[in-house]
Amino acid sequence: RHHKIAVIPGDGIGVEVIEAGKQVLQALADRSGELNFAFTDFPWSSEYYLEHGHYIPEGGLDELARFDAIYFGAVGSQQVPDHVSLWDLRLAICQGFDQYANVRPARLLPGVNSRLQGADKIDWVIIRENSEGEYSGNGGRVHRGLPEEIGTEVSIFSRKGVERIHRFAFEMAQSRPRKKLTLVTKSNAQRHGMVLWDEVFFEVARDYPEVETDRELVDAVTTRMVLKPDTLDTVVATNLHADIISDLAAALTGSLGIAPTANLNPERTFPSMFEPIHGSAFDIAGQGIANPVGAFWTAVMMLEHLGETTAAERLMAAIERLTRSGVHSQDLGGTATTRALTQAICDDIRQQ
Ligand code: NAI
Ligand code: MG
Repeated sequence: RHHKIAVIPGDGIGVEVIEAGKQVLQALADRSGELNFAFTDFPWSSEYYLEHGHYIPEGGLDELARFDAIYFGAVGSQQVPDHVSLWDLRLAICQGFDQYANVRPARLLPGVNSRLQGADKIDWVIIRENSEGEYSGNGGRVHRGLPEEIGTEVSIFSRKGVERIHRFAFEMAQSRPRKKLTLVTKSNAQRHGMVLWDEVFFEVARDYPEVETDRELVDAVTTRMVLKPDTLDTVVATNLHADIISDLAAALTGSLGIAPTANLNPERTFPSMFEPIHGSAFDIAGQGIANPVGAFWTAVMMLEHLGETTAAERLMAAIERLTRSGVHSQDLGGTATTRALTQAICDDIRQQ
């Protein structure tokens, strides 16, 4: 089976881990014999932006639309303001392709140490609304630079947008063994959009009687993640809230360098995009020491989306053998380089 993958390595360690991920996917293709990836690289980085004045050229999204999936690294540079790089590249793709469901699994991999006691019980999927809310880009500034200056950042929650993410989250919860879904909002302090979130959640819940539900305010859920991690399973939250709690989830399971995410267009009208959740990591970029495991786990999610279940299972098993072996990059307390970890997992895949 042949899959056309658009590859956007982006900036910093994005380039390093995505190159590693491509090698691992190639090893899986070699191992399988009937699986084949055609990778097309897109050079839309911050360097490219500084040279051309844009990240995505005219017609770029139309070009991307022809692919089966997008494998993305990270974007962010000290030469470009972060709100420009994020909006002009990553959000342009997520919003342009209506990838409204962002899926973020968090689980402690074998051989990885967490600072949290009981972290071995973490097996969460955080569902993040990925198309509106706090990141609608709605707002502005008046009286610029003056003492009376005001900036607004107005969240937009549409019934359609809220309903579709809740439905997606219920489907996810129902497909998992515990069938448990926690709603996270801040509807005590924010009394319009957040209350709409709560109401629509319980409307949708009626269609999923098998799913056990509960609710938590976003501040309270951070303490529950740390103190009672086993009481959570599937979690649904807004764009901003889930952004924050999923970084916490990654840290609780060892490192930001491990965690994967999928930006899904569930209707499959457009391609979905798969990326490690970390950024371009200025502090370690160019040193060859980035942890590529997040990019590998991301590849597992991409394979699942492409219907390549066997390859996805094979890769996840190889990742777990790698972490269990105790060979780690520096973020997990080891000394292994990106290249060494990549070589080890490719050899393992070809031998299994
Ligand atoms: P970051 O995720 O790049 O780094 C945070 C910390 O985690 C750093 O100490 C870094 O070394 C470490 N880290 C991250 N990934 C790692 C890996 N694979 N292996 C080992 N250590 C790892 O977040 P930060 O520093 O806030 O942002 C840097 C740039 O990345 C900014 O320009 C930001 O806007 C951008 N960014 C982009 C994202 C994306 O493209 N989706 C997501 C997050 C940040
Ligand atoms: Mg984030």
